[in-house]
Amino acid sequence: MSTIAIVGAGYVGVPLARVFADAGHTALLVDIQADRVEQLNRGESYIEDVPSEVLKAHVDAGLVSATTDYDELAGADAILVALPTPLSAQREPDLTILLDASREISTRLQRGQLVVLESTTYPGTTRERVAPLLEASGLKAGEDFYLAFSPERVDPGREDWTTKTTPKVVGGLTEECTRRAVELYASAVDKVIEVSSPEAAELTKLLENIFRSVNIALVNELAQLCDRMGLDIWEVVDAAATKPFGFMRFEPGPGLGGHCLPVDPFYLSWKARQFDFYTEFIELAGKVNQNMPYFCRSLISQALNHGAQRSLSGSKVLVLGVAYKADVSDMRESPALKLIELLRTAGADVAYHDPHVPELPTHGLSSQPLEPGDYDCVTIVTAHGSIDYGDVAERAKLVVDLRNATGRNGRVDGKVWKL
Ligand SMILES: NC(=O)c1ccc[n+]([C@@H]2O[C@H](COP(=O)([O-])OP(=O)(O)OC[C@H]3O[C@@H](n4cnc5c(N)ncnc54)[C@H](O)[C@@H]3O)[C@@H](O)[C@H]2O)c1
Repeated sequence: MSTIAIVGAGYVGVPLARVFADAGHTALLVDIQADRVEQLNRGESYIEDVPSEVLKAHVDAGLVSATTDYDELAGADAILVALPTPLSAQREPDLTILLDASREISTRLQRGQLVVLESTTYPGTTRERVAPLLEASGLKAGEDFYLAFSPERVDPGREDWTTKTTPKVVGGLTEECTRRAVELYASAVDKVIEVSSPEAAELTKLLENIFRSVNIALVNELAQLCDRMGLDIWEVVDAAATKPFGFMRFEPGPGLGGHCLPVDPFYLSWKARQFDFYTEFIELAGKVNQNMPYFCRSLISQALNHGAQRSLSGSKVLVLGVAYKADVSDMRESPALKLIELLRTAGADVAYHDPHVPELPTHGLSSQPLEPGDYDCVTIVTAHGSIDYGDVAERAKLVVDLRNATGRNGRVDGKVWKL
């Protein structure tokens, strides 16, 4: 059994530590946030996919521990890097965290160690950016230490596919790097897919996310056309999804959210420009998806006008669900935040209810009790499973349902208006 260090104890790092510990390895989580480290060492999980009972059992058995001290990396057989890869204010890749951490790892790098980058990034990052920093240690990649890229595919909140059961794609800098990385993952996850290079593995992850972004943009565009044609996009998607082949279901909504889809595609469009290439599908999908909160604001305004003879300005609007997707507390890039801002700018008095998000300090709001009748309009932005939407529709004066949570037929059914 090996000791696996995981740098970055977040949505990716903590489930990875659990999977390696489940397989009998020792997992050491390294994070700069001391409070997170203390919590983990008490066996308290802040990641919904890893229950505290499971974490605590591993901590008590000595299989999982956490530290803020990079020096502890020296004792690891492998170092997996699961750090954030955000966009800068100019919407360009910001690798600062990753590159700073690579320098920290470099000064502790040991002969024979395997380093695997799991963060989503553009093709070339592992070879062009990370390898030189690690080689500043004096050790050579592929000979003295081993380097690979293996994208994380976790979908927080999903139960049918987990870090263990989702196939893991691996591409190393050399054949020996790939062999060692494949061997490591095969000891903990169900299936490992080998590709010929880190670049192929890096682009694989981006293709997966761009595929989602483009298809979501397609249904979002059709939802806007359906609004003009008086059709119910949900009825059309449901019907198309009955085709047993050649169609995959994607749903419209108030816009993209989360750490991945609004960010990752632009890592590729940025890199593509170095090759005099413009990734037009990515840009177009970004444009359509970014417009959705604006379209949804118009829809709410229209519903208030026609359904309640009220203007948006001065109306009390309850945003129901603010997390970026159902049944999680993750707020990163949530389209609800944009929608709240737009509603406020238009003069609405906005409150929200979300059982997973008690406070929204960025907007000076906290979750209000769910009393649909207290508002001029309730807009369902994120449909958490714990809420009875039939009851909401019953008690509300007017509902704008951006998720088809009420299950009504047609675009407008009584007081329910659907996207
Ligand atoms: N969240 C997802 O669903 C998901 C899925 C697939 C891939 N990814 C990718 O995985 C990577 C990590 O994402 P995440 O969602 O786990 O991020 P996260 O924000 O949940 O976790 C990152 C952790 O890294 C820590 N950290 C920041 N700087 C550090 C440093 N210098 N040294 C040590 N720790 C540091 C933070 O404190 C945090 O705990 C990103 O590239 C992301 O795109 C995320």
